[in-house]
Amino acid sequence: PRPVKKICCIGAGYVGGPTSAVIAQHNPDVAVTVVDLSEARIAAWKSTALPIYEPGLYEVVELARDGTDGRTPNFHFSTDISRTIDEADLILIAVNTPTKTVGLGAGGASDLAYVESAARHIAEVATSDKIIVEKSTVPCGTADSIREILDAHASPDVHFDILSNPEFLAEGTAINDLQKPDRILIGSLADDRGRHAAGALAQVYGSWVPQERIITINLWSSELAKLAANCMLAQRISSINSLSAICEATGANIEELAFAVGLDTRIGPKMLKSSAGFGGSCFKKDVLSLAYIAETLHLPEVSAYWKSVVDINEYQKERFAKRITKRLYNTLRLKKIAILGFAYKKNTGDTRESAAITIVGQLIAEGARIAIYDPQVSEQQIRQDLTYEHPAEVVKKQVEVFGDAISACADASAVVILTEWDEFKTDQTPDINSMDSAVRKQLVERTRRSHSASSSEGDADFRDSGFVTPAPSSSDSNPISAVVSEESRPADKRVDWV
Ligand code: NAI
Repeated sequence: PRPVKKICCIGAGYVGGPTSAVIAQHNPDVAVTVVDLSEARIAAWKSTALPIYEPGLYEVVELARDGTDGRTPNFHFSTDISRTIDEADLILIAVNTPTKTVGLGAGGASDLAYVESAARHIAEVATSDKIIVEKSTVPCGTADSIREILDAHASPDVHFDILSNPEFLAEGTAINDLQKPDRILIGSLADDRGRHAAGALAQVYGSWVPQERIITINLWSSELAKLAANCMLAQRISSINSLSAICEATGANIEELAFAVGLDTRIGPKMLKSSAGFGGSCFKKDVLSLAYIAETLHLPEVSAYWKSVVDINEYQKERFAKRITKRLYNTLRLKKIAILGFAYKKNTGDTRESAAITIVGQLIAEGARIAIYDPQVSEQQIRQDLTYEHPAEVVKKQVEVFGDAISACADASAVVILTEWDEFKTDQTPDINSMDSAVRKQLVERTRRSHSASSSEGDADFRDSGFVTPAPSSSDSNPISAVVSEESRPADKRVDWV
């Protein structure tokens, strides 16, 4: 295949930015340019304050963008979408594909408006042949729709080859996932042109990914494989979360259960951490997308099966908020609840579909005063997320955002850990330790039941990523989520672990 010399990535988000950075890093002879409609996002990518937080990302960007090791910079950002498209021989479409909110399939189907607008843009400005790569997660069959759009709008002497190359990175570990992918899937048509195009993309990845990990399959398998992978991962979390409800009702311990079950090599330990519900921009939307696909294929039982994965997730979030309320004698009015962590998982500032939004929302509805701290999420983002469900003045009145955990926790009736940031691990940070000792002074009785931390996409074994229980009498490592310190009983002050 003809080697690729210029790559254009449409969409400078969580996928487009890091993926393009790693491609540029390993292909110094290829010029990689990321474009976006958002001028602010592009400006941020050009600066020292990147628009997304991802461990190890800045180093890769600096290397390829600024040529820090003396190499010629080959990683660029631009808002001149038309020109970048026309100059490229390979175009990655990495735009967002959220769940449709209106019209046919609302609440289930993926909204392909951004994919469509990117395809139209390509068709309108391309004056030479291009390889078009679907990086976004899309329903199977989307490559056909892209082909129709291109055929309808492009000039007849320009040829497009369409590939599916879904991205499997998980936020928080994106750079590691990109540097050492489990597999690279490239879906193409089974004709010569299709195979040539797939070969050209395989060469780009071949700069750093071992050949045996680069898999070429048919377009539809590739599109469906991405949805299937996310759905199976989400299903594991909902399965373990449904079991956590049984544990709480019976006295079984969910961590012991997950550990015991995960030792079965056919099951394995990953994505078995019980949590307050999965979050992130992908799991819910991808499960709903698969359920909707099943529905349109007249497979109602299949659709209902996958929808139940999302239903359990909603149930788990609600259940968790209710437990906090119940623990505090069924009323939160005027009580202060500290929330540690607002991102949907550690090592990212992303709050899309974070369980924290729903849980905090319910605590607000109960009349609680909320004090929030997250190391990477801005106050503005937190307020914006909470304002979807509650009027801005209610959020303003009941929610305060702090710059550190200790201030957020001062005088709180309960401390709720919703994101498993390392700094909330009590054995690692002196700050949290000192907070604990304040809480510990009040500790008379300790009730430990099962727990739920925010586990989500890409989460590994809970024993790697969980919290360490900050209980004085115990050194066992367990994820915990809520510390309820009840001050209304002076003779018998206590801290409960929910
Ligand atoms: P994002 O919302 O962070 O980024 C998408 C970007 O595309 C936005 O900056 C938006 O302004 C831009 N955009 C939209 N239409 C455009 C157009 N016509 N021209 C130029 N720019 C345009 O989304 P994210 O999270 O990067 O996701 C992108 C896709 O990748 C989605 O389909 C998602 O399902 C998939 N994915 C996401 C993963 C994640 O962890 N976030 C992981 C794997 C896949």
